[in-house]
Amino acid sequence: MRLDRRLSELAFGTRKEVQAMIRQGLVMVNGQTVRDPGQHTEDADSLAVRGVPVDTRRIRHVLLNKPAGILTAARDRKQPTVMDLLPQVYSTLACMPVGRLDKDTTGLLLFTSDGELNHRLLSPQRHVDKTYRATVDADLTQEDTVRFSEGLDLGDFVAESAELVLEGPRTGRVTIHEGKFHQVKRMFEAVGKQVLELDRLSFGPLTLPGDLPRGAWRELTRKEIESLYRQVGMEEPV
Ligand code: URA
Repeated sequence: MRLDRRLSELAFGTRKEVQAMIRQGLVMVNGQTVRDPGQHTEDADSLAVRGVPVDTRRIRHVLLNKPAGILTAARDRKQPTVMDLLPQVYSTLACMPVGRLDKDTTGLLLFTSDGELNHRLLSPQRHVDKTYRATVDADLTQEDTVRFSEGLDLGDFVAESAELVLEGPRTGRVTIHEGKFHQVKRMFEAVGKQVLELDRLSFGPLTLPGDLPRGAWRELTRKEIESLYRQVGMEEPV
């Protein structure tokens, strides 16, 4: 790929801006200053801008502790989205949310630039578990746990069996094995309760790190990445 396109894809600026940087001698390829924006580069070439090495990986995986009040969408004309909480490079590398959390839902939101991985993690056939902590407006009962485990008819679909563990009078931890629109809220509605707060604690093999504040993000560790690919029976691309 041309050097200017590569740097632009890595969010160093528009094509014009990176061309100007290259002509000014601010860019090195494999330790040599290059002044031709059209110079061909290979994936394995090392790049540096203003003497700082560039992270050239195209595939990235990010975990965000989503705060309330932010839309899960690639972009929106009026409201802030989860993409606004990440550095620009993740948008340019199409590192996209895996599924959605409602605007008022908090907690673990995964992003990946591997489209196939994203697709498989959401595929209904794969039954990737998601666990949430829900706070509701009335006391939870053992009967609710039984009804969750039996599956719930939500009108347009029947929610599969889910585990509800009571944690407090009005707090429960629920694990679902599918991911339909507003599913957890609708399941509680079906047993006569309204969800007041919903926080996702885990997604497949990933759990929300206790030391990651709301609104903060980090890239997945090597172990976490391997566990995700294993979960969906996929080889990690090199
Ligand atoms: N279920 C819901 O109802 N809302 C979410 O954000 C996630 C799961």
